[in-house]
Amino acid sequence: MARSYRKNGVPGEPGWPVFGKSLALLRNPAKVSHEMVSKYGQVYWSNAFGRTNVSMLGPDANEFVLMDRERNFSSAGGWNPLLGLLFPNGLMLRDFDDHRAHRRIMQVAFKQPAMQNYVAKLNEGIRQGLDRWREKGDFRFYEAIKQLTLNTAASVFLGMPLGKEADRINQAFFDSVQAAVAVIRTPIPGTKMWRGVQGRKYLEQFFREQVPLRRGTAGTDMFTLLCNAVDEEGNTYTDSDIVDHMDFLMMAAHDTLTSSITTLIYELCRHPEWQDAARRECAALNLPPDNLPYEHLAELQIIEWCFKEALRMNPPVPSIPRTAVREFQFGGYTIPAGTTVNISPGYTHKMPELWENPQNFEPDRFSEQRAEDRKHKFAWVPFGGGAHMCIGLHFAYMQTKVFMYQLLLNYEFHLDDGYEADFQIMPIPKPKDGLPIHLRPLEEAA
Ligand code: HEM
Repeated sequence: MARSYRKNGVPGEPGWPVFGKSLALLRNPAKVSHEMVSKYGQVYWSNAFGRTNVSMLGPDANEFVLMDRERNFSSAGGWNPLLGLLFPNGLMLRDFDDHRAHRRIMQVAFKQPAMQNYVAKLNEGIRQGLDRWREKGDFRFYEAIKQLTLNTAASVFLGMPLGKEADRINQAFFDSVQAAVAVIRTPIPGTKMWRGVQGRKYLEQFFREQVPLRRGTAGTDMFTLLCNAVDEEGNTYTDSDIVDHMDFLMMAAHDTLTSSITTLIYELCRHPEWQDAARRECAALNLPPDNLPYEHLAELQIIEWCFKEALRMNPPVPSIPRTAVREFQFGGYTIPAGTTVNISPGYTHKMPELWENPQNFEPDRFSEQRAEDRKHKFAWVPFGGGAHMCIGLHFAYMQTKVFMYQLLLNYEFHLDDGYEADFQIMPIPKPKDGLPIHLRPLEEAA
């Protein structure tokens, strides 16, 4: 099957007829990239997910593509086949000047005063969510954190109380996120893609009706902020822009947070010494166990290392696609316009040249003493980099810290003896069995 030849001078192989390397990549992307690198080096081509891709691996490639100093690469071209139908015109699906103009307006919703309000809402939503977990005891963590993240999103992103309408929105949103990774890409009735398209329609209608009601009001949720956002030059969003950006923002935040917090919990169960250290750090703040104020976020250093390490081990966006808008040179190859290229945080994060014991969970690799992430500016790239670098990066740290703070000060958590999770990596890392864990209120565990 592996008929290798050069395409535009780049070595590689197509993989199986029709599927190319899709199935192998879904099964084990690390294995595929290691095999390909050992045959062809860190730049190679192959077929997957209906198109020919040139993989460009390692930190130099990350820097070249993400910084894009020569304006070679379209993010819209890379992401549209995956997300265009369900999340059209989202920020990641825009390029160059148009992208910059839209990003500038969106920044309003990520400035410090906005973030302070989100932290207050996060604390409240997480407190309510964790109270409900008290009854559960033993449960599948992945599903539970997914629901909790959806519920907090209703208040933080939409400024809505929990209830029937929030449930309907959550369902519509859930359907469109599921469809983003559906195998059947045509919306035939009954398929995930069809449910996703219906979900998108519902959300579009909801946002569209709400925009005029929110313009000119003083709400502190992300939706109301976007309705009233003005950049330094006085630019604002149209109603359609707001619909598209809200839908995309909720998608971009949801699965990434669910995935990374799940990896973090798994590793903290496997490494109780880090779970205890993180708990001691929280207790040392001497604050109520159900509220982490914004001003104290920066003090949770150990949780930050642990989260960074979880993002290194299982980056929620394991590979980042672009299309070349013009011919470019990299690694001794000349690659033509129109080529789809992929860089891979997943591969870079496990390179032994960059990371000591890359398969191990060692959060102190991010400490001043070890500082492994500083060996190369693009060694650790879970949030991407350059013009499209994740705009929700600080939000992600905030939600994780508030959640971990309240969890650690109220509960102890562990796995069955000898349990090992089997993670599906593509399109987004998640434990295949949902990660069964045991949760004990601290007063019982003592
Ligand atoms: C652990 C959590 C998260 C991870 C790992 C993550 C990862 C990423 C990555 C890798 C990109 C860049 C993709 C590219 O260059 O093609 C990105 C972009 C983006 N993310 Fe996140 N993200 C996370 C959380 C969030 C949250 C919480 C939000 C919103 C509140 C968010 C909103 C966005 C948006 C709007 C973009 C597009 C930025 C642009 O194109 O300018 N993300 N994210």
